[in-house]
Amino acid sequence: MKKFKEKDFNMYGLYPVVPCIVLVKSEDKINGLSIAWHTALSASPPLYGILVSPKRHSYEMIKQAQEFTINFIPFEKSFLFAVFGRISGKEMDKIKTFKIELEKSNRVKTPVLKDAFIAYECLLREEIETGDHFLFVGEIIGSHERENFFEENKIPNLKAYEPCFYLGRDFYAKAKIGFLKQRVGREEIEKILKFKERI
Ligand SMILES: Cc1cc2nc3c(=O)[nH]c(=O)nc-3n(C[C@H](O)[C@H](O)[C@H](O)COP(=O)(O)O)c2cc1C
Repeated sequence: MKKFKEKDFNMYGLYPVVPCIVLVKSEDKINGLSIAWHTALSASPPLYGILVSPKRHSYEMIKQAQEFTINFIPFEKSFLFAVFGRISGKEMDKIKTFKIELEKSNRVKTPVLKDAFIAYECLLREEIETGDHFLFVGEIIGSHERENFFEENKIPNLKAYEPCFYLGRDFYAKAKIGFLKQRVGREEIEKILKFKERI
């Protein structure tokens, strides 16, 4: 029998989730954050929701820019989730410090990640307060899709890449032969930063 809990329950029954990286360009500054809480909201019109805490530097930037891009990356690039998700744009320019490669968007000012196998250009259509986060509703006005990463019927081509699953608490997994679990948190990113200082 399952144990019923009225408090101190595990909110993360939804994990593992496929996280994404949201980029935003506002007043010529580009920033981004990792997002685990996101969902498709409507097919027609194509609407996509991301949940952003007002504590994030990106929060005001998205409100100001009225646009963002949503980037999905494979497991092999999962360190990018720690770069964008464990460091704030308030402390450093993540794009410059980590030499993040960007590609121009077609309809919005915000670029997309070169490492993304699919990225959506979005215009901010609505903002809804949901407790301690805000639901930003983006209208997808275009997508960048890497060739061969999707089959003809649009389902992922798992021969082309390994999807990244976020387990919470800085653990990422891929499902190839069982699960491979690895931790990539702030400490690991700081190690990279210290290594960079030495060279
Ligand atoms: C894998 C992962 C998923 C995250 N998901 C969310 C999320 O859904 N919403 C959110 O507000 N913050 C989320 N965060 C935290 C932000 O990405 C993090 O606070 C980031 O450093 C904010 O950057 P900024 O201050 O430059 O905007 C997540 C972090 C990680 C590592």
